[in-house]
Amino acid sequence: MQYKTINVSASRCYDIHIGQGLLAKLGEFIRPLLGECRLAVLTDSNVDTLYGSAIMDNLAGSGYDACKYVIPAGEASKCADNLLAFLNFLAQEQITRKDAVIAFGGGVVGDLGGLSASLYLRGIKYVQVPTTLLAAVDSSVGGKTAIDIPAGKNLVGSFYQPTLVCCDTALMDTLPKDIYRDGCAEVIKYGMILDSALYDKLQSLPFNRDEVVARCVEIKRDVVQQDEFDNGVRGLLNFGHTFGHAIEKLSDFGVSHGEAVAKGMVIASRIAPLCGLCDVAAELSQLLEIYGFDISCEYGADEIFDALLSDKKRRGGTISVVLPRAIGDCALVDVELGELHALLVKVMG
Ligand code: GLY
Repeated sequence: MQYKTINVSASRCYDIHIGQGLLAKLGEFIRPLLGECRLAVLTDSNVDTLYGSAIMDNLAGSGYDACKYVIPAGEASKCADNLLAFLNFLAQEQITRKDAVIAFGGGVVGDLGGLSASLYLRGIKYVQVPTTLLAAVDSSVGGKTAIDIPAGKNLVGSFYQPTLVCCDTALMDTLPKDIYRDGCAEVIKYGMILDSALYDKLQSLPFNRDEVVARCVEIKRDVVQQDEFDNGVRGLLNFGHTFGHAIEKLSDFGVSHGEAVAKGMVIASRIAPLCGLCDVAAELSQLLEIYGFDISCEYGADEIFDALLSDKKRRGGTISVVLPRAIGDCALVDVELGELHALLVKVMG
């Protein structure tokens, strides 16, 4: 079986294996890292229906005693109630410090599983097994874990690196079109912020998934290695997210993360020329539309502004926004809140 391995060197060093059919090798990958231990698999109802037996059979076949906890699919599951319920499950299953969590699913499962692992017994190991394109290129890499609270998305979390990421790209074959497209927004984001060659490749559909996932993971790895704790360059990964998170919140998560990021990237690109940077909004909008994104925004400047006040990137009276300087080159720009409101009014009315 052919696969690519990308190594991350952060507060914990780990491998990210990317390739078709890798779920069949999960136990084999885990064995040298964790040895004899018990494994607690966290997954969601959709992934469980499709692949629950496959992962449990693989782990049992590799000699592991594994238990499984299933949460309902969807962003609403990334909440404090499920965090506590899963922590209780780990305790009831008598998971100890030599054991590990396996987060088997998309971003919700990965973030919740990672946060649980970072808290349980003050920290046990965890393995990310992403099943969506979005989780493969973004949330499974770099150790950000979180839950949402009523005040905002991802407001409670930790930086806690996994021990291994096992990305079986064949699992994405069964993704509904809209969920796959969510991941495409993040892929386009990587092209926009740091890699114009990747951006150019994305003009022809369908792209080579394994190659593109690996390139996005390499870009994220390079950024995380420079700034694991998000005090500088890692902020570039938030291109489109400041406005996108506001849109997700305003829609009560009716607008998916990818759709919201697509709309957010367009808003940021319209703001850029007003700050003396380049104007790539039309070009980016065209690419996003090829992927089927609706880039219109039903919210006005005041609503977006109010919703982004609770954003993590806010520092007192300023907020850091990511604006394009060119395709493949974005900059972090600190903007006074009042100025940001005025810019939003100009681009959105
Ligand atoms: N998802 C953005 C980051 O990992 O920093």
